[in-house]
Amino acid sequence: MTRRSTITGVGKYVPPKVLTNYDLEDMVDTSHEWIVQRTGIEKRHIAADDTPCSELAIKAARQALDDAELKAKELDLILVATVTPDMFFPATACLLQEKLGADKAAGFDLEAGCSGFVYALSVADQYISAGTYDNILVVGSETLSKIVDWEDRSTCVLFGDGAGAAVLQPSQRGGILATELGSDGSGAESLYLPGGGSLNPSSEKTLANKLHYLKMEGNQVFRFAVKIMGEASLEVLKKANLTPEDVDFFVPHQANTRIIKAAAKRLDLAEDNMIVNLPEYGNTSSASVPIALEEAVAEGRIQEGDILVLVAFGAGLTWSAAVMEWHKGGK
Ligand code: UT7
Repeated sequence: MTRRSTITGVGKYVPPKVLTNYDLEDMVDTSHEWIVQRTGIEKRHIAADDTPCSELAIKAARQALDDAELKAKELDLILVATVTPDMFFPATACLLQEKLGADKAAGFDLEAGCSGFVYALSVADQYISAGTYDNILVVGSETLSKIVDWEDRSTCVLFGDGAGAAVLQPSQRGGILATELGSDGSGAESLYLPGGGSLNPSSEKTLANKLHYLKMEGNQVFRFAVKIMGEASLEVLKKANLTPEDVDFFVPHQANTRIIKAAAKRLDLAEDNMIVNLPEYGNTSSASVPIALEEAVAEGRIQEGDILVLVAFGAGLTWSAAVMEWHKGGK
């Protein structure tokens, strides 16, 4: 019998501090109306100055472990998808391993921009399907607020902080049916953070030139996103011998409601089939898909046996999609 992986627990955490569009009106030349009309975002949660990525991650991880009724000591692997790790190294996954007391778990971080969580899900799926591991924790955790330029209105209004997590375990029925990943480095400079790496090591000059902040050509990413969300979804469904009509819910990366609506149109799907929580959180990068998933499950929208497509795009440029039959009971 085919050994598949399934999500047996989900968790999320967002920091308590809320920054509304009206708050932003006092910080940059923008308006609530512009932000809502162009993006769908109404507010975002912002981590405190002394709260790193791992602190958000640990809270989402604990909830996912409780939900799966799994002890941290039983974990074989911890994967953290993030573009805002606590430090360049060690991996945030190792910080989590220690804080959780996951004594026998291996751990590493994975960086694929906002596509990171679904990339990490596909890695976990491979390990479980191959029989290498049984219990894997996958976390998407981000503190984008710490790398945006709060004087740049074209980016600072878009992002928020948060974490989402999932526990993956073997399953004899349902679970992840197919995954699809991709990258196109020719778009690297449409969304990037140029400073602080080996290309532009941190210096007074990189700081003065604001190279330690995220840079984005919004229009380029927008065009790419609309095209790739539809294409990646169709490709992953084809791999699972399914069509868009078979899908109960899409859980898309939450970057812009216009992108999500355009993807729904391309797939000929009712907007009711799209899980959207962008107004509350903004774009939380690799945390957006697992936060949306956790909420849809908690609200009872997603039921046993539902077919879901998780789909994301981001810096790289990258894209990732997974189709799954929801059987949280797993084993
Ligand atoms: O996770 C992946 C990360 N990134 C994304 O998904 C971003 C994808 N891109 C987008 O969501 C959209 O391109 C944005 C929301 C970033 C921008 O929306 P747009 O409709 O593409 O606007 P635009 O960049 O074409 O800018 C239109 C106008 C410009 O003014 P002019 O040149 O027409 O006079 C901007 O300067 O809007 C101006 N503008 C703003 N105005 C008020 C840009 N940002 C703001 C702002 N408030 N915050």
